[in-house]
Amino acid sequence: MDRPRITIFDTTLRDGEQSPGCSMNVQEKLRLAQQLDRLGVDVIEAGFPIASDGDFEAVQSIAASLRRPIIAGLARACTGDVDRAWQALQGAAHPRVHVFLATSDIHLKYKLRITREKCLEQARDAVRHAKSLCPDVEFSPEDATRTDVAFLCQVVEAAIAAGATTVNIPDTVGYSMPEEYGNLIRTLREKVAGIDRVTISTHCHNDLGLAVANSLAGVQAGARQVECAINGIGERAGNASLEEIVMAMRVRPDRYPYETAIAGEHLYPSSQMLAEITRVPVQPNKAIIGRNAFAHEAGIHQDGMLKNPLTYEIMTPQSVGVPDSRLVLGKHSGRHALALRCEQLGHQFERRELDEIYRRFVVLADRIKKVQDSHLLELIQDVASGNVSSSDVTGGKGKKFPPAAATLQFPRAVSAAAGAHASDSHPAQVSGSAGQASVSIPFTDHHSEQEDYLWGV
Ligand code: KIV
Ligand code: ZN
Repeated sequence: MDRPRITIFDTTLRDGEQSPGCSMNVQEKLRLAQQLDRLGVDVIEAGFPIASDGDFEAVQSIAASLRRPIIAGLARACTGDVDRAWQALQGAAHPRVHVFLATSDIHLKYKLRITREKCLEQARDAVRHAKSLCPDVEFSPEDATRTDVAFLCQVVEAAIAAGATTVNIPDTVGYSMPEEYGNLIRTLREKVAGIDRVTISTHCHNDLGLAVANSLAGVQAGARQVECAINGIGERAGNASLEEIVMAMRVRPDRYPYETAIAGEHLYPSSQMLAEITRVPVQPNKAIIGRNAFAHEAGIHQDGMLKNPLTYEIMTPQSVGVPDSRLVLGKHSGRHALALRCEQLGHQFERRELDEIYRRFVVLADRIKKVQDSHLLELIQDVASGNVSSSDVTGGKGKKFPPAAATLQFPRAVSAAAGAHASDSHPAQVSGSAGQASVSIPFTDHHSEQEDYLWGV
């Protein structure tokens, strides 16, 4: 049976760019938009044209250069904004005007200082005006999750009657809980006339760390578009992370039987490009694309990984564009990973020799945290020459060892229930330079400083 198709609406360049430290110039936005196109997102929200000349120009140049995806421009619910957005979208093959207006009493009273009646009228007029220019119009009642539900239904109904083709339900302040957000989508589907004619969209912020969970709950309740951003960037705590949404659906189709058009192998390169452009690094333990997402240090984990990657990985690194898993040699590492690393460095040992090397390795790792290849080679040399002192192994005393180059195949993974591992093998290769001792495949293209930083190679 065909799985429902979820439209991925990427807002990295608009909401994402609004996060502190993440602003980008026109060239950078265009470069990232081209990457988003390769990634396969359906909609690129390219900016907020009325906000600045730079934003206008960025939307204009992205609209003119990308032919496949829908290009959206954001506008407040007023004629000037809508006209400016439409002007910026002139060159687009598939333009979308995205109109928003706050609907919660808090926003109406303190921010907009208008009544509900005025809000309803303004939303209707702005959508009608946008529709007179562009067939594809999205409407967002800002702060929808803190809006009186009956009033929200009224505004959404009016927007649909005025011509909106997508209705987005923002959890603007990241206040909602997954069950609550799902129920809100269900209520709208039950109560709003004409809702079946439009696409319902989620737009969840991460103030309580629930943006992805809320978006998925929205999809389960019938939303068919998800607004999200690479690396989860966005106002305050950010937006729902695109890579997490996509991979949750891909790894758990039993719970989320939906399709997206995302090319998984471009997830990591997209994340890297964004981090490089904004110079905002990704947290190491970030799901899917953080540098530790496929790294294993604990001995038990490394042992399991070497026997079968399915023991500790629920998706292959390759499925998200990460070249391979890394086994980091640190104090939690076991004998198995150490022996393998020594072998990759060109040294095979009998059990007793390995015991001695392991004993010294643990002492060393306790002191220096990360054991580099050079340290390991010195330690091996020490043991081989019968030198009992291990005190000189941390100092990097200028001993030179030729870089080794060996390739290791992890066992072929048995197909996971999710199919994420499929028949992918896990080739691992020694990084030839004197980096941290680790079992990993080298990046074919690791010239970027950011990439080096992120992966510590
Ligand atoms: O968070 C929000 O409400 C928004 C709207 C403009 C869609 O970003
Ligand atoms: Zn937002």
